[in-house]
Amino acid sequence: MSQPLSNKRVLVTAGPTREAIDPVRYISNHSSGKMGYAIAGDFLEKGAEVWLVSGPVSVSIDTHPALKVFHVTSAQEMYAVCLKLFPQTDIAVFAAAVADYRPETIAYQKIKKKEDSFSVRMVKNPDIAFAFGKMKNDRQLSVGFALETNDELTNAIAKLRAKNFDMVVLNSTNDKNATFGYDTNKVTIVKNDFTQLLFPLKSKSEVAKDVVAAVADLVIQDHKAEVSGVGKI
Ligand code: PMT
Repeated sequence: MSQPLSNKRVLVTAGPTREAIDPVRYISNHSSGKMGYAIAGDFLEKGAEVWLVSGPVSVSIDTHPALKVFHVTSAQEMYAVCLKLFPQTDIAVFAAAVADYRPETIAYQKIKKKEDSFSVRMVKNPDIAFAFGKMKNDRQLSVGFALETNDELTNAIAKLRAKNFDMVVLNSTNDKNATFGYDTNKVTIVKNDFTQLLFPLKSKSEVAKDVVAAVADLVIQDHKAEVSGVGKI
């Protein structure tokens, strides 16, 4: 298996989602899409076919015969697109910062400045990674990201378990020049046997190479297990 990713179809989610309040306002987060786009780029370099499902970002990716980009705005749109792609996906990497909640109702017209305060009731969005974790078969792999502000490792492991990830990429807002918007990131990859790979601060393109290499290792391991007749645990 010299090119473990060459015949693989990889779904990558990237960027933020926007949850509308009214026709001119939304709730979102600071994701730039840089991390997810770098991962998509490295999978292409390693010979995979890539489906990039992207929230609204200003980064771009060069066209490539093996790349399809799906542009979405809200979490519900991202979920709907991913759900259609999941059955044909070999590997899914969830790098998007999907809004966990959205306003229950979207005002039909621009909300006027009348009251001193007003409340927006929020309801839960579908969890895309969780849905894939529920439905994935023995031949499909999933990689999550955990963006943490506290109790980093504990929270990352909880997400690995809850979303049935094969590995989770932990990044923390406590690390300087890491996570949202930066060209650099500092990650720890936690595998589903709880072994950890700790990396120093690197450019997001270098981090992408580390993540893709770890995925390639998993593919090779699974292939060896299949050849020797030992199934996935
Ligand atoms: O885009 P950049 O500016 O380069 O920043 C990169 C990043 C910080 C956004 C990225 O490295 C990152 O951490 N992405 C995941 C952010 C996040 O939402 O993490 P989370 O811990 O809330 O979610 C856990 C996992 O579930 C993630 O893989 C997420 O994509 C996925 N998820 C979460 C909620 C949801 N409704 N659907 C999901 O698929």
